Amino acid sequence: MTEVIETDLIPDATSRDANWWRQAAVYQIYPRAFADSNGDGMGDLPGITSRVPYLSDLGIDAVWLSPFYPSALADGGYDVDDYRDVDPRLGTLEDFDALVAALHAAGIKLIVDLVPNHTSDRHAWFREALASPKGSPARDRYIFRDGKGPRGSEPPADWTSVFGGPAWEPVGDGQWYMHHFAVQQPDLNWNNPEVRADFLHTLRFWSDRGVDGFRVDVAHGLAKNLGAELPSQAELDATPKDGDHPLWDRDDVHDIYADWRKVFDSYDPPRTAVAEAWVAAHRRARYASAHGLGQAFNFDLLEADFDAEQFREIITFNLGLAEESGSSTTWVFSNHDVVRHATRYGLPPRGPGAGGGDHTAEKQGRQWLLARGAEPVLERELGLRRARAATLLELALPGSSYLYQGEELGLHEVPDLPDEVRQDPTFFRNPGVDVGRDGCRVPLPWTREGVSFGFGDAPADLPQPAWFADHAVEAEDGDPASTLTLYRRALALRHELQTAESLTWIESGRDDVLAFGRPGGWVSVTNFGTDPVDLPDGEVLLTSAPLEGGRLPGATTAWLRA
Ligand code: NOJ
Repeated sequence: MTEVIETDLIPDATSRDANWWRQAAVYQIYPRAFADSNGDGMGDLPGITSRVPYLSDLGIDAVWLSPFYPSALADGGYDVDDYRDVDPRLGTLEDFDALVAALHAAGIKLIVDLVPNHTSDRHAWFREALASPKGSPARDRYIFRDGKGPRGSEPPADWTSVFGGPAWEPVGDGQWYMHHFAVQQPDLNWNNPEVRADFLHTLRFWSDRGVDGFRVDVAHGLAKNLGAELPSQAELDATPKDGDHPLWDRDDVHDIYADWRKVFDSYDPPRTAVAEAWVAAHRRARYASAHGLGQAFNFDLLEADFDAEQFREIITFNLGLAEESGSSTTWVFSNHDVVRHATRYGLPPRGPGAGGGDHTAEKQGRQWLLARGAEPVLERELGLRRARAATLLELALPGSSYLYQGEELGLHEVPDLPDEVRQDPTFFRNPGVDVGRDGCRVPLPWTREGVSFGFGDAPADLPQPAWFADHAVEAEDGDPASTLTLYRRALALRHELQTAESLTWIESGRDDVLAFGRPGGWVSVTNFGTDPVDLPDGEVLLTSAPLEGGRLPGATTAWLRA
């Protein structure tokens, strides 16, 4: 990497720097599991506001807030009843304004989650569609089709939803509606001008309230091209996803984002967006274009093993893609959809030839969760040690880092939630096959004791295990060896050392060691192996585990000033 992109290096929520996002450390808050201010067992916006000092001490640049809109929680809030309001259980619009003000006063930007592919089945539009006849304008906002067979009793097509089970649901009059995800998440028809106009309204609504950016859910799914004759699932599967697939990653989805860009750019600084688009890597740059959303998630490290070769390949490839799009890349190890990385890295190796690229490492995590109890295979300490090393490497990379609440406490997945408390539709729609995503959504522990470890005054809806006590903020605060201390130090140093968006590999002479330098003499070295190795010359600034006799032990990262 030789190209140097000059940016205002240190993001600052009070500044008008249009590039604040390029190398930001963004902390994802899953609002119902963060902090409960009113003792109803559900996290809320005032709870987050009360923890802004914590976020400030952590040293993040921005918060990404997962959906906080009114919702029946059929999919953790990604089933939105009203895009321009707050779930009353989480607070009010005034509470939202107070949160924005508190974050901005602390120099922290706010990115909100936008869910444009589908509404909830309780959204006013969908209720109107159900109450309206076939062929009505109300039904045209969604994807309705006549069923096949006598009185339309068979689905219009045999499609499978992303969450498992059928993707078409009957409404009782011979028509069916399409849903990529849960039954309660009907897909919108983005060919409908009213749908397009309404989302522009929503973007302005939150931008006017001071939101700095948007995380765009299922960004590759909005545009669809469905004629009168629907293809079969086998035909869909056989169609390449290279721009003209009927359902996914269509080229014309970018017409939508070009319109959004006009809204983003009408603000100062321009509002930002990051696409959640699970598309082939070579198609990611389109979403990250400055004429579209501006940035796209790269989940490649999340899918990889703890392996030097895989990491190097992924980093090089994604920095190249970032150059191609003119954007900066995004690094992610954990979020609300995947098994926490401390847990993934504590599972046995998948054997030679296993690589990233197909949710592989992540899928393996889920399989282990399914077999919970049968196979006590998780090496908890090793997993966390590797996770700390991986995060320290991540935070030294050019681009933005997206961190998920609780990873700064070294939390593992909660594998053994009783089935009766589980909430995730992927668990219910895939009995015995997918354990779902609840294990990474258990509310955070703030104190060592208390009915919900300081999350609130009531038990959490997803029960916290006893071992959460050792990971509570209270337990880790001030402990020099804790993961919280490591994150705080790393984020503070990152601000100090942050520099132009380029990286130079330093050849270590070993296959299991990755070393790179950033302009200004910031060097990061990670030992993916087991034997201690020598460090290059320089002042050691931070390590993810103690050095051994001045050498870098296995599963450890060190930052140095050359
Ligand atoms: C991606 C979100 O991250 C996930 O949690 C959600 O279930 C699906 N999109 C559907 O909205």
